Amino acid sequence: MLAIRNLRLNPPLLLAPMAGLTHSAFRSLLLQLGGVGLFSTEMLSARRLPVENAASPFLVSTEAEHPLSYQLLVADKAHLPAAIDKVLQLEGDAIDLNLGCPAPRVRYFGGGSRLVEDTDYLRQLVAEARAHTSLPLTAKIRLGEQLDEARLKSLCRLLEGEGIDLLTVHARLRKEPFSRKPRWEWVGKVKNWLSIPVVANGGIFSVEDGRRCLALSGADGLMLGRGAAIRPWLFHEIASQLYAIDLPPLTIDRPAIYFSFIDQLEERFRPERRLGRLKEFTHYFSRTYPFGLWLASAVQTSSSVAEARERAADFFSRNEAQPIPA
Ligand SMILES: Cc1cc2nc3c(=O)[nH]c(=O)nc-3n(C[C@H](O)[C@H](O)[C@H](O)COP(=O)(O)O)c2cc1C
Repeated sequence: MLAIRNLRLNPPLLLAPMAGLTHSAFRSLLLQLGGVGLFSTEMLSARRLPVENAASPFLVSTEAEHPLSYQLLVADKAHLPAAIDKVLQLEGDAIDLNLGCPAPRVRYFGGGSRLVEDTDYLRQLVAEARAHTSLPLTAKIRLGEQLDEARLKSLCRLLEGEGIDLLTVHARLRKEPFSRKPRWEWVGKVKNWLSIPVVANGGIFSVEDGRRCLALSGADGLMLGRGAAIRPWLFHEIASQLYAIDLPPLTIDRPAIYFSFIDQLEERFRPERRLGRLKEFTHYFSRTYPFGLWLASAVQTSSSVAEARERAADFFSRNEAQPIPA
C-alpha cells in the first residue's frame, strides 16, 4: 500500500497515461479485471481542459473509475489554476504533470519534456500547481537527454522541493524508442535521492518483468502502460503475485475481454468516436496471439465497429486454442 496525502494506492500499481488508450472504456475493462491502484486519463491540454465539455471523450468517466488521476499537458503556468479547478469539478483524485513527453509537437509548444529544460520556469510552474491544490500532485519524467546523474538529481530534488508528492520515472532517455530496454536501475538512483515515493515505468509486460524491475529499482510502485493493453489482466496478475492482494480468481477469456471492451466503447462514446479507439486498443491486444497481426489488420481496415466485431469473432473462432504466451 502506498499513501500520497489522503490517497491510498492499494496495490501501488498505476495505469500509465496513454493518449488514445486510457479512456473510460479501457479503464472500465481494467476495473472489471482488477488490480489497479490508480487509474489515469490520457494527457489533457491544460489550456483546453477548462472549456472541455464533460461529455467529451477525453473526460467521460464513470463513478467506478476511481481513484483517477488527471494528467495535465501544460506549457504556460497561467493555464494551471483553471485546469486544476476543472479537475476538482470532475472529482479527480490526483493531478499529474506531464514532464516527459518527447513528441515534437508537444515540445514545439513548450510542454512535456521541454519543460525540464528551463528549470527556473519549471520551478515556478510546479509552485503554481502546488499553490492551487491540496490534491496529490505527481509528476512523470524520463531520464533526460543523456545519462547525467547530477542533472537528473537536481531535477528530481527540484520537483520534490516544490511539493510534488510522487514521482514516476519512465526509465528511458528522451530520444530512446519504446523498443529499447528500460534502464530500471536508474529509477533506483532516483529513489535513493528522494524521500517521496518513486514509481518505475517502462517495459513491464509480465509478472517477471515487474519482479525484476522492483528488484533493480527498489521502486515504491509500478506504472503499466502498453503491457496493460496487451494483457489487460496484467494488473490482476502483478497485484496478486507481487503484492499479495486478494482478488477474485482470474479467468482469462480473451474474446470475452475484447467484446466487453467493445461494449464499453458503445456505452461511453458517440458512434464516430468508437472505431478509432478500437483500432488503437486492438493494435496492442492482438499481440498475445501468434497470428495477432491478422486481427490487428482486419480491425484496422474495418469501416465500422460492427464489421470489426464480426472479423474479430471470425479470428477468435480460428485462433482461440493458441495458448497465451507467458
Ligand atoms: C499510445 C501511447 C500514448 C502515450 N501517451 C502518453 C501520455 O498521454 N502521457 C504520458 O505521460 N505518457 C504517454 N505515453 C507514455 C506512457 O505513459 C509510458 O511512459 C510508456 O508507454 C512506457 O511504459 P510502458 O512500457 O509500460 O508502455 C504514451 C505511450 C503510448 C504507447
